[in-house]
Amino acid sequence: MQREMSTLPRVYVTRQIPPEGLKILRESGQVQFQLWDSDDIPVPRQELLEKVKGVDGLLCVLTEKIDAELLEAAGPNLKVLSTMSVGFDHLSLEELKKRGIRVGYTPDVLTDAVAELTVALLLTTSRRLIEATHEAKTGGWGTWRTLWLCGYELANSTVGILGLGRIGVAIAERLAPFKVKKFIYTDVAPRPELASIINAEYVSLDELAKQSDFLTVCCALTPETKEICNKDLFSKMKNTSIFINTSRYILSQDKLLTMNENSLRTVIISCLSLILPHIASASYSTRNAMSALAANNLLLGLRGEPMIKELKL
Ligand code: DGY
Repeated sequence: MQREMSTLPRVYVTRQIPPEGLKILRESGQVQFQLWDSDDIPVPRQELLEKVKGVDGLLCVLTEKIDAELLEAAGPNLKVLSTMSVGFDHLSLEELKKRGIRVGYTPDVLTDAVAELTVALLLTTSRRLIEATHEAKTGGWGTWRTLWLCGYELANSTVGILGLGRIGVAIAERLAPFKVKKFIYTDVAPRPELASIINAEYVSLDELAKQSDFLTVCCALTPETKEICNKDLFSKMKNTSIFINTSRYILSQDKLLTMNENSLRTVIISCLSLILPHIASASYSTRNAMSALAANNLLLGLRGEPMIKELKL
């Protein structure tokens, strides 16, 4: 039997999430929900603090800081938080745990999109595509020259992976057909099961820096990895290395931009010409999958059932 709408659990959704997730919420008949109906700007904090009052569930994105103030404002009805993100550094896990609030998140569904973007960045920088299109647009393309706009090939190279998880494996699987000579990785400890999929060798962080022709960073943000890519690490790398980062907050851009250009050429080039907005998971299918997973996590949590992807607090 259908319950009266007004008796259904109340949910606040902090962003106009992609259609698949919204459809799941609408058609569930399980919740009544309000939505910050914009994708252009995040819900202002004051509005958010008002809207969460008395809700049973909250579906947020990574722009919302879920901290003690917000959880206090929501009050004791709040039982489930579902974030449409794999990252959870915007959540105060301690405060959530203290209040017994269950937390859903969206790992796995964005692995392919992030790996694809990493490969795109790698080829764009290694073959100097940004500079080449700039030259073509601004009249710099004159006669054919023997070393003009030469770059570095993946063939016979050593590719280093800092943080070997699902995404690191997906990147290596995509790069292997380019005839990479060797994959090396580092992490808090060796990860033999994942490493065996891509035939990667475990090395120290120092060795990773020294040996890599291409260094890709795809680790989770933790107190140990925050700003792990610093001047010290870059000073150990070959001056021809290419550094690709798709992780959050592992490097300080200010520090990078003040580095001596000769110490690591491509970091500088990448910083100046290839800083991208936060788009690693930005494909239609992935963003829809993330919104669907976030919606399903929320509904399952509110029913008191195991979520598809739940953080262990
Ligand atoms: C995430 O889900 O945490 C990503 O950073 C968003 O693409």
